[in-house]
Order: sequence, then structure tokens, then C-alpha cells
Amino acid sequence: MDFTGGEIYQSSFDPKAYLASFCSLGSGRDDILTFRLKKLFETFGPGGLKGDVLVDIGTGPSIYQLLSACESFPHVIATDFTDSNRQELERWLRREPGIFDWSGIVKTVCDLEGDSRDNWVAKENKLRSRIQKVLKCDVTKSNPLDPTTICPADCLITALCLETACKDIDSYCCALRNITTLLKPGGHLVLIGVLGDSFYKVGEKNFFCLPLDEKTVRNAVIDAGYTIKDMEIYYIPDQTSCAHITDTYANVFLVAQKKEL
Ligand SMILES: C[S@@+](CC[C@H](N)C(=O)[O-])C[C@H]1O[C@@H](n2cnc3c(N)ncnc32)[C@H](O)[C@@H]1O
Repeated sequence: MDFTGGEIYQSSFDPKAYLASFCSLGSGRDDILTFRLKKLFETFGPGGLKGDVLVDIGTGPSIYQLLSACESFPHVIATDFTDSNRQELERWLRREPGIFDWSGIVKTVCDLEGDSRDNWVAKENKLRSRIQKVLKCDVTKSNPLDPTTICPADCLITALCLETACKDIDSYCCALRNITTLLKPGGHLVLIGVLGDSFYKVGEKNFFCLPLDEKTVRNAVIDAGYTIKDMEIYYIPDQTSCAHITDTYANVFLVAQKKEL
């Protein structure tokens, strides 16, 4: 399908429809979400990455990717290109009526952390208290946070953003280099991506996705100046259950360290 760039995200991306299709437990994607949550806990849990500032690139309206990280990074900066997504996240931060129900996902993370599921509200509130800013971001810019500048972060997360924001492999590699300028030398990149994906459907609208394979992701990360520390591929056992909303065959979870100068 044709590339869907920033203007289409601004006019047509529906955050609530996205969350309902891609972040709801019980909608045929539980195994994929559980894979990501387990890997995030493994990465940020005891003995894992820790530091001061973490920046999430292309947060969208989602929070699942930050639930483990907020235990070991006190300052979290969320970012996204699309105004409606940043607004939806800000509504969640303000606990407004009608916000997405993350309780199932948060309880799953409580289980992973060995905490009682009854503490899920406290866990959500901890993340709220750690998100200090929600900034506009465009990964195609050499400073993706332009006109804002920030001190280089200790950790970057990016989940399913670069492959949706880039029309070809060259742009993907360039976007990866752009976001890497926001990270300290020696800092870590945590990248969650989809493989083989050419589209995803949000409400009635199809959005472009750049089909990637394991080797392309690996090479792009190495070329952007990182040493890969962990890379795991989750092959989706039953692709038919999601075939109406996406054609991905696997998820990739990668942790890499930016080389010292
Ligand atoms: C598939 S969603 C992923 C959202 C979230 N990270 C998650 O894992 O659920 C892709 C996100 O990329 C954002 N995006 C698209 N183009 C972008 C760009 N040029 N720069 C930054 N973000 C962009 C969209 O607004 C959207 O929130």
C-alpha cells in the first residue's frame, strides 16, 4: 500500500481505535503483548537497565512499554508526532473519564514484578508520576524533538514507530540515526518492532508499515553505532487471528548499547 505520512496521521489516526485493536487483552493478541511485557520486565527488572532519564520515541496513546521501565528510570519523557495521540496520553495522565482501560495489562506487569494484582492502581499512578513531559516528535528530523532540545538520555525506547514513520530502508536507517542523537554514549536503546508487516488497520483506515526482516533490523542498529546486547524474535503462532488488522509474522525485541565516542 502507499506510504501514509505525517499529514495522514494528523487527519486520520484514531487513538481509541488503535488501543482497542492493538493493546486490548482478549482480542487475539494476548501472546504478542505478553511477549513484549515479559521482555520489558527482563530488560528493566532486577539486575537490568537503570538510570535517570528515559525517552520513549513514538509513544502513541500507549503506556504498556513504560510500565517496567518506570521502576528504574525516575524521569520519563513521552513523545509522538500525532497531536491526537499526545492528547490521548495527556488525558490518561489526568485520569479523565473515558480513557482506555489498561488494568489487564498493568495487572500482568504486577504479576511479572511479583507484586499483588490489587496494587495495579498504585502501579499506574507511579508511571503517571514519572512521565514528566509529552513532547512533539518527528523521527525524520535530525533533531526529532525540534524545536525542543534535551540533555542526552540514559535510555531510549521505541516501539513500532520507525517502521510506520519510514517509507523505505534508507529512511529507517536515517530515523534510527536521528533518534540516536538523543541518547548518551554508553546509553541503551530498547527497540520493539514488527517483521514482515506491510499495513496495520486502525478503525476503518489502513496505515503503511515498512516490511522488515531480522537481518535488516540488526544491520540498521549496528550501522547506527550500537552493540547489540539482546535480540529475540517472537514468531506469531496464529497469524490468522490478527489478519484483518495486520500482516506481521513476528515481533522483534532488541536491546543495544550506543558505543562510546
Ligand atoms: C503503531 S503506533 C505505535 C504506538 C506505541 N509506541 C505502541 O507501541 O503502541 C505508531 C506511532 O508512530 C507515530 N509516528 C508516525 N510517524 C511518526 C514520526 N515521523 N515521528 C514520530 N512518531 C511518528 C504515530 O503517531 C503512532 O503513535
